Amino acid sequence: MKQASPPNFDQAAFRQALSQFATGVTVITTRAASGQLIGITASSFNSVSLDPPLVLWSLATRSASMPVFRTNSHYVVNVLASSQLDLCKRFATVKGDRFEGVSHAAGDTGMPVLDGALAWFECHNRSRYEEGDHVIFVGEVERCGVHENAAEIAPLVFQNGQFHGLKPL
Ligand SMILES: Cc1cc2nc3c(=O)[nH]c(=O)nc-3n(C[C@H](O)[C@H](O)[C@H](O)COP(=O)(O)O)c2cc1C
Repeated sequence: MKQASPPNFDQAAFRQALSQFATGVTVITTRAASGQLIGITASSFNSVSLDPPLVLWSLATRSASMPVFRTNSHYVVNVLASSQLDLCKRFATVKGDRFEGVSHAAGDTGMPVLDGALAWFECHNRSRYEEGDHVIFVGEVERCGVHENAAEIAPLVFQNGQFHGLKPL
């Protein structure tokens, strides 16, 4: 079989091209064995399968929370509303306790679900794939829910390094 050719672009050009793909924004949350709550902002979330219900997301290998996500069986994918931009930034940058002052409640699986999330998926991790500088997590969804006013709430959208709300065309 033919091998892949080396890229003819640098990393900045690759990032810029990737960033044109508009995504929603999620915060992936879990509870470490120590009881510490962990969360990270991720736009790499996507659906995989309806039957069984599977989703995926990816985490940078160098991420500080990798040891917890690598070993924990469960996590929650919280889909952010545009009104939750502060949470998006908080879970991408804060070095200490990212849950301080953040309202949340334990879901059926005991993992933290963020109040006001547009939707949430409580997952049991099914598989992990090490690829390049990221690990792809595939989660089997055990519980999911949608905000009771979802029809009136704009999602948080990320594109070309900027945050947007969303209006129907
Ligand atoms: C909009 C947005 C999307 C992001 N998506 C991802 C992602 O999908 N995967 C990832 O590893 N990091 C992503 N990040 C960066 C992480 O949120 C950030 O590196 C975070 O500090 C990781 O936390 P940790 O180092 O405590 O594990 C994203 C950041 C932002 C602002």
